[in-house]
Amino acid sequence: MFHLDLAPADPILGLTETFKADTHPGKINLGVGVYQDATGKTPVLQAVKAAEHQLLENELTKSYLSIPGLPALATHTQSLLFGEGHHLASSGRAKTAQTPGGTGALRVAADFCQRAVPKAAVWVSQPTWANHQAIFEAAGFSVKAYRYYDKATQSLDEAGFLADLERIPAGDVVILHGCCHNPSGIDLTPSAWHAVADVAKRNQLLCLVDFAYQGFGDGLEADRAGLHVLLDAGLSVLIASSYSKNFGLYNERIGALTVVEETADLAERAFSHMQAAIRAIYSSPPSHGGAIVAMILGDPTLRAQWIEELAAMRQRIRAMREAFVQGMADRQTVIDFGFINHQKGMFSFSGLSESQVLKLRADDHIYIVGSGRINVAGITPANLDPLCDAIVRVL
Ligand code: LMR
Repeated sequence: MFHLDLAPADPILGLTETFKADTHPGKINLGVGVYQDATGKTPVLQAVKAAEHQLLENELTKSYLSIPGLPALATHTQSLLFGEGHHLASSGRAKTAQTPGGTGALRVAADFCQRAVPKAAVWVSQPTWANHQAIFEAAGFSVKAYRYYDKATQSLDEAGFLADLERIPAGDVVILHGCCHNPSGIDLTPSAWHAVADVAKRNQLLCLVDFAYQGFGDGLEADRAGLHVLLDAGLSVLIASSYSKNFGLYNERIGALTVVEETADLAERAFSHMQAAIRAIYSSPPSHGGAIVAMILGDPTLRAQWIEELAAMRQRIRAMREAFVQGMADRQTVIDFGFINHQKGMFSFSGLSESQVLKLRADDHIYIVGSGRINVAGITPANLDPLCDAIVRVL
């Protein structure tokens, strides 16, 4: 009946499957964006374990959550996004729904946009996370790209970005990475964020901030500085949060979608459409991940423990960035990899070409996304030297 060709493997998750199937003892996974500790493990955070113990003891029912999920998850998501006691949280202008991961938040956002701005095109950075285009195309949008990354200087193409931003037609949707740009690790400068706010206001662009890495750049507060430029300008914004990375809750699929509107009445109306969109996709979210996050954020001791564990992950990644740059410098390569120290978050755009990436996979069992994106959190003190040696061989 279904005479289909094979669908192409996912560039990121497909790579994980190939990595798992590789039996070589020295294999290195720098593909999917999952944190690994110094021993190469992806641990359950201690704060998460403690919250799970309490949940197991005290959970009374497995009955459905409401369509937007746990109210406490919404409250705490807003405090992470806006800051404790921020006026937006009490104004009624912001509404949050719990979603299955950041991907779920984006898909709900896409279906919501189909209701709110069906004629819009959706604009993503060039490059962007491999799944952005698929999610918005699946919801029926045409997806276009604005300039972002300058390959020659391995930095933000600010002039190209600003020029393209000005040319985006009124009413279109612009996806921005809140921090720790995936895949480049290069974030917008404060002045670029101000330009976004200015153009979005003038040209009535709808900004959707994909905020999957809060806490992995410079810290929970510093990482939301760009988002706050948009909020302070009074713009309507959609924010897709993910708790996969900062709580290490990858397989619990927990995220949130927040809409900020100009008035409480508009927010209420938007939220009703968000809920209608959710009902048509998955009815209501799974509970466990949301209950963990809400418990940790609502308990001062667990929250402090989580903040410490998050800082440790951030610092380990930064240390590995520096060690990698030093490792390559020690090998006196033709390329100066110093630019990697200026990138933020889990990823680094290494500058490796697709053929170099494929050679590393075939010869050294090192798994890197075809774009040359490296998950820096996959580098450990034990694999650093073999990694640097292998990269030297393909340069
Ligand atoms: C990544 O970019 O590697 C992560 O966000 C995982 C994914 O779903 O692609």
